[in-house]
Amino acid sequence: MQMRLDKFLAECGCGSRSDVKKLIRQGRVCVNGTPAAKPEQKTEAGTDEVKLDGRLLVWQQFRYIMLNKPAGCVTAVSDSRYPTVMSFLKEENAVPDGTEAPVCKDLAPAGRLDADTEGLLLITNDGALVHRLLSPAGHVNKTYMARVRGNVDAEDVEAFAGGLEYGEKKPALPAQLEILSAGMDEEGPVCETLMTICEGKYHQVKRMFQARGKEVIFLRRLSMGPLKLDENLRPGQWRYLTEQEIQELANAGKEE
Ligand code: URA
Repeated sequence: MQMRLDKFLAECGCGSRSDVKKLIRQGRVCVNGTPAAKPEQKTEAGTDEVKLDGRLLVWQQFRYIMLNKPAGCVTAVSDSRYPTVMSFLKEENAVPDGTEAPVCKDLAPAGRLDADTEGLLLITNDGALVHRLLSPAGHVNKTYMARVRGNVDAEDVEAFAGGLEYGEKKPALPAQLEILSAGMDEEGPVCETLMTICEGKYHQVKRMFQARGKEVIFLRRLSMGPLKLDENLRPGQWRYLTEQEIQELANAGKEE
């Protein structure tokens, strides 16, 4: 893909557009062995050999990031009032340590988690993949750990499996509910559950429990299709997906 050299350098994480212009003017950037002359010169990304201070730069068209979204931030690219999920994509929040934060301006979250929901969030600039993952026809499973106020029981499991009416025009598609534990706290009965849905309607998990007279008091997304939340990521931490994860995701949502 042909692009301006300054854009290429910025997308490789070498700094902002004005930073990289300086690097070029300082003669620190070589293209195929020749010092680059100007920021606007064209380079063939993926083909030309571009080096900064002798270090070969690897350009990637697409970035795939797994964030363990913490509670208390909104799933948006920008927001005037609240911190966004994008504000966590800094070097100091990366696992492993020292990973360069992305500088790609087209990154966006794939789908939405509520401000108080934690867990797996994919952030990418691969719009076609996002479209497939979120398309209702794709039926990509999403699994959540939901802590629920009330006694979740076999009737709830059956109701979720049978396609629950919860205030949408159509009932929910069959959802799997597993009761992990049932106990009490100072306010009464509380259950931990695993819930798998293949849709992504507004507040869907909370509203489905609400339709059964129960309240979700904590929600964490654990997986989306084949992608699983990395247990090494604490809330607020992120990492790039592995090649294998990217390959597996590429096939998700294609079957139906
Ligand atoms: N369902 C919800 O109710 N909230 C989320 O954040 C995700 C799914």
